[in-house]
Amino acid sequence: MTALTQNELKILVAKKAIEYVPANAIIGVGTGSTADLFIDELAKIKDRIVGAIASSNRTAERLAGYGIRVFDVNEVRSVPVYIDGADEIDPQGFMIKGGGAAHTREKICASIAERFICIADASKEVDVLGKFPLPIEVVPLAREAVARRLTAIGGLPIWRVKDDQPVVTDNGCHILDVHDLRITDPLAMEQELTLIPGVLTVGIFALQPAHVALIATADGVKERSYR
Ligand code: A5P
Repeated sequence: MTALTQNELKILVAKKAIEYVPANAIIGVGTGSTADLFIDELAKIKDRIVGAIASSNRTAERLAGYGIRVFDVNEVRSVPVYIDGADEIDPQGFMIKGGGAAHTREKICASIAERFICIADASKEVDVLGKFPLPIEVVPLAREAVARRLTAIGGLPIWRVKDDQPVVTDNGCHILDVHDLRITDPLAMEQELTLIPGVLTVGIFALQPAHVALIATADGVKERSYR
């Protein structure tokens, strides 16, 4: 048997996540390549749900393209589940997110969810967060001031650009990707970095951790339950 590709693993976990979608509910939907595949699966059962809140314009467009009703987060008090990928996940269900520059809205959606279901392939599991550069969304005029603070704590912040232009988030902000951090205390670091003036959202998800992770491996999808 040939090994599954990373994309095949993502499809496997996207299909599995459908089992965690409650009927007749508004659910939260994340952003990224794994979340995109989950939306493709969700489309097949769209008549079973009321609709979704979206963690990015990209996700809202994909949902709407399938005829899934997209609600504004302001219209929804809570959702039973928020289903999203991650860039890294540690043994406590703490994550780094924001590789797709959507972590501010992802964190907001997660904050009103009863359960965060993380969907990922096994390459995302790590012992200690930080090998993946930590995305931090910043107000553009504070970029250099925030970068200096991050350098002072031992990080190497790199301004995210694409095609020679700064990446602009759905919120009109910029991203610093911070290299060289070893995040041994994610809860403390999330809080410390969030307090820097000009920081909109830090890509550490420790205050809004995963409740469950579905991890796609060569031996099938493993469920990890954290809380
Ligand atoms: C988006 O900003 C991120 O938080 C994504 O959830 C994360 O990057 C995972 O993306 P993939 O599923 O594409 O790896």
